[in-house]
Amino acid sequence: MSKIPFGPTYDEMLHPELLDPAIKKLSHEAKKNELDPMNLFNIHWKNEDGVVNKIVLPKAITNVDANIVVMLGKYFPSGSHKVGPAYSTLIEGCVDQTIVPGKHTILGPSTGNFGIGVAYICNLMKYDSIVIMPDNMSKERYDRIRRYGAKLDLTPGTESDVILTLERTFELKKNPDYRSLAQFELLPNYRFHRHVTGLSAVEAVRGIGNGRIACFTSAPGSAGTIAAGDQIKKVFPEAKVVALEPYECSTLMNGGRGQHRIEGIGDKMCTLIHNVLNTDFVCLIKDDDAVRGLKILHDGETVLKEAGISHEQFENMRDLFGVSGVCNIIGAIKMAKYLKLGPGDNVVTVATDGFDRYPSVLENLEKRYLETVDFVQRRWFKDIFVDMDTSHILDYRPMEMKEKLFRQKEMDWLKFGYSQEYLDAMRHMDFWDSEYEKIHHYDALIIKMRGE
Ligand SMILES: Cc1ncc(COP(=O)(O)O)c(C=O)c1O
Repeated sequence: MSKIPFGPTYDEMLHPELLDPAIKKLSHEAKKNELDPMNLFNIHWKNEDGVVNKIVLPKAITNVDANIVVMLGKYFPSGSHKVGPAYSTLIEGCVDQTIVPGKHTILGPSTGNFGIGVAYICNLMKYDSIVIMPDNMSKERYDRIRRYGAKLDLTPGTESDVILTLERTFELKKNPDYRSLAQFELLPNYRFHRHVTGLSAVEAVRGIGNGRIACFTSAPGSAGTIAAGDQIKKVFPEAKVVALEPYECSTLMNGGRGQHRIEGIGDKMCTLIHNVLNTDFVCLIKDDDAVRGLKILHDGETVLKEAGISHEQFENMRDLFGVSGVCNIIGAIKMAKYLKLGPGDNVVTVATDGFDRYPSVLENLEKRYLETVDFVQRRWFKDIFVDMDTSHILDYRPMEMKEKLFRQKEMDWLKFGYSQEYLDAMRHMDFWDSEYEKIHHYDALIIKMRGE
């Protein structure tokens, strides 16, 4: 067996605090140089003390009794947790020996962050890579992908932008030297989030409220992150899992496929790896509420101060979220109200990335609104956070609602060559549990192949 560039197991990504002290030391030092391969061991949700990176939002902002706990993806290497699924998919291919260094070029179909993760991981693990993404994403994304040395293959940002990246990948994959880290289809994405994100979420609420999770909200792009809900439900069976979609692109709710401004989510499909059995509610968020909400949390110190937020709280919070993170927060607030959660209850959500890749989005907001002065921001703060309503929430627990999602998945995936039998297998929890169990197999192989 050939030795692979070494990296962590699924369990080590969940429990980096248990790593060999020498590896821990080297990986902490590697943070000074983001292209040091030891950063592979920094792919996890935790800080150097082994505590999950998170913020409990001040109630002066959420105006709900429940605690809204946001897990912070910006501290992952490359600046977003999408590097986790990128690494997991590549390492599984390495140990399965379907992906060979020096022979295969890696394809990363994406709306940006996964592409950044793929470009980054391929740089660290010495693969050539091509990121396939729409041409209308934020400028900061393209800059980073180029910086990590990947090639960009841009598809038109139109009505069906992500579908076009999939079609383009489908074409490129005909080249036998290309291997796709197909985040929408491949189960390492599911495994990473169910195990690493799900169980990190369980740790994140220790000591907060009743220490349990009442609700988990996540706006699916690939629907990797929402897989955390599968493991959260194993630990806290009462937890409700909520898929958030842009109001302008409500594919899961009613087949809607419009353009919207929340980069990374609302990809106009039910992805293959989305376990809809565990999606209890679908909730729509207006895209500009997420952008304006980001403006408030990043630039609205005056308005937030009036609500009781201190300068220190504001400074600690302002760079933690991107647009989809704010969408997830708004969804968490709506669900806390809808489910009538109390002070002991926790709603967990995720900020996939931080503000660093969105200055251009706020510049664009300024141009569109011309004035974003305090009195405008005061109105936005009230409408988007304090007085947010519980509209556009649908209960997807009844079987006929699940059926809608199964049918959407068939429409989206039979055309890419997946069989009806495979899709039917996904109607049963056994399918998902046995896919999840494979982490033990892969962890053993990673340890065996990386050697000492
Ligand atoms: C900014 C952002 N938010 C949310 C998501 C959605 O996460 P997931 O693909 O795990 O559903 C993505 C995915 O790329 C993203 O880039």
